[in-house]
Amino acid sequence: MTTTPLKKYGGEIRKKITTRSFRLKKKRGEAITMLTAYDYPTAMAIDKAEIDSILVGDSLGMVVLGYENTLPVTMEDMLHHCKAVSRGAKNPLLIGDMPFMSYQSDVWTAVENAGRFLQEAGMDAVKLEGGRERAEAIQKMVLAGIPVMGHIGLTPQSVNTMGGFRAQGKKADQAKILVEDALILEEEGVFGIVLEAVPAQLSELISSKLRVPTIGIGAGVGCDGQVLVTHDLVGQFDKFTPKFVKQYANIHNVMQEAMIAFRQDVNQKDFPSDAHSIFMKDEEWELLMAELDK
Ligand code: KIV
Repeated sequence: MTTTPLKKYGGEIRKKITTRSFRLKKKRGEAITMLTAYDYPTAMAIDKAEIDSILVGDSLGMVVLGYENTLPVTMEDMLHHCKAVSRGAKNPLLIGDMPFMSYQSDVWTAVENAGRFLQEAGMDAVKLEGGRERAEAIQKMVLAGIPVMGHIGLTPQSVNTMGGFRAQGKKADQAKILVEDALILEEEGVFGIVLEAVPAQLSELISSKLRVPTIGIGAGVGCDGQVLVTHDLVGQFDKFTPKFVKQYANIHNVMQEAMIAFRQDVNQKDFPSDAHSIFMKDEEWELLMAELDK
């Protein structure tokens, strides 16, 4: 018996998505959708779009905070943004991304930090990067009641050891390690695994070997679900667009056009018009004039 909170939109009752829903979707062959969010309004829009899951990704560091990579993002940054997202979205499964050095140094620090995402920030689960080297931390988190999502392939927190943001698993020996890592993570109890920037044939193979769903980003159509960074999808981050991103809108241009129109209106005294102004009633104005004339 599940106790899943329900939320109403336009008269329609929708069910809270859980890690169990992820498993069932994979079993039924239904694709899982996931997008990133870092703030309240975006979380609301994603919820209304009936996306299954929101990842509060540490991509926050690059697309919102303006860092070159995800390494400077802290636990406090993540918790702050997770709290905003959890206030905006009720139905999707909410996953908080564990930032660099919040889980790598020792297992118990990792478990405590993972717990903060659920206890303080309203997340339903956490995600962390890495393969077999994370096995113990994942096992202890799951035993503590914290649902964990794995992330293998291109793992941006290892950008310095990988020698840049590059596709992984293109060579047979590397690919074999990724298959083994996926199976180890499943064995330790993850409820799903993000596969980032790996060849499409490899992610299809990994997906077929796992009972838990794979969520791909730059990993082809053979994954059980797909995730994109929302700022890439809506064209709000204009610094660069990875090859695997499909841009569905250009919000950056829409925002810029609106801002230019505002500047022109202000310069031409077309804004604010009467419609955007507040007026005193005539009698109050006359009273004021009389007062000032005294
Ligand atoms: O931080 C993030 O947004 C991610 C996704 C790219 C999967 O990890």
